Amino acid sequence: MTTYPPIDLRGATVLVTGGAQGIGRAVATRLAARGATVAIGDLDADLARTTAAGLGGTGHALDVRDPASFAAFVSEAEAAHGPVEVLVNNAGVMPNGGFLDLDPATDRMTMEVNVFGVITGMRLVLPGMVERGRGHICNIASLAGKVPLKGLAVYNASKFAVVGLTAATRLEYAARGVSITAVLPSAVDTALASGIDFRPLPKVSPDKIAEAVEASVANRSAEIPVPRYIGALAGVMTATPEPALNVVRRLVRDDRALQADDAERAAYNSRMADEARDRTRESL
Ligand SMILES: NC(=O)c1ccc[n+]([C@@H]2O[C@H](COP(=O)([O-])OP(=O)(O)OC[C@H]3O[C@@H](n4cnc5c(N)ncnc54)[C@H](O)[C@@H]3O)[C@@H](O)[C@H]2O)c1
Repeated sequence: MTTYPPIDLRGATVLVTGGAQGIGRAVATRLAARGATVAIGDLDADLARTTAAGLGGTGHALDVRDPASFAAFVSEAEAAHGPVEVLVNNAGVMPNGGFLDLDPATDRMTMEVNVFGVITGMRLVLPGMVERGRGHICNIASLAGKVPLKGLAVYNASKFAVVGLTAATRLEYAARGVSITAVLPSAVDTALASGIDFRPLPKVSPDKIAEAVEASVANRSAEIPVPRYIGALAGVMTATPEPALNVVRRLVRDDRALQADDAERAAYNSRMADEARDRTRESL
């Protein structure tokens, strides 16, 4: 087993993308409580600053789709707090709907935020970590990176990509003292999951994911499913013949991401439409 140079969260510089709200905010809050100095980057810069101010950290404007914006976030944070010891790639989006019902701009936005955002973050912090022989990157993937669901095809594709990216880079950088972990939450009680009934999958609080991120800094595990027992699900599904699996899927009504509560999801859907539109405008 690889042993990595330990990271003491007290005084460590921790960067959290998408940390203005939801899971990212819970991660920033928990790590700040352990003594870390937290820099939060978010598309919602005002909310990032407000959240960070309450934690004694700094908030920054960040669009993870834009490498220049990500580079500015990392250099501002390092100028303020010192070299990055932990990067939590948390920013993510989850538009839902039938594959043919979602538009190409939304597909592209999903891949750019969820996949290229993570790649960019890793490209920016890895050289410094390798040079110092120490560091940790925690990618917030999803159980959807292992288990396909109707209504989430492109989101599934993006999270499968993050799981593969994490596993391969982990192999490459282990000998350089840098660990890379994927956290795989099931459903979490945030705006991203609003209006979708994921039962029988368990829905956990954002702090449960923060707990896993904190644990990853200490144990440097390859993958951390949350809750832990859900990790067995992907393996069981792979081993189950498709006809049997389809019976179970029908029984648990596995098409609920296709049938969201539109009223409950309206605010999130409008956030997704804005984010996809911004990109379309830029690329015109
Ligand atoms: N909520 C769930 O059920 C769930 C389950 C599994 C995995 N996840 C993953 O957890 C992560 C966080 O999700 P959440 O539930 O907290 O969502 P959320 O919508 O509550 O928060 C996401 C944050 O990311 C920010 N963001 C979005 N696009 C951005 C961009 N281009 N650049 C910078 N910041 C951006 C948003 O402004 C927001 O503050 C995501 O990667 C998501 O895929 C969530």
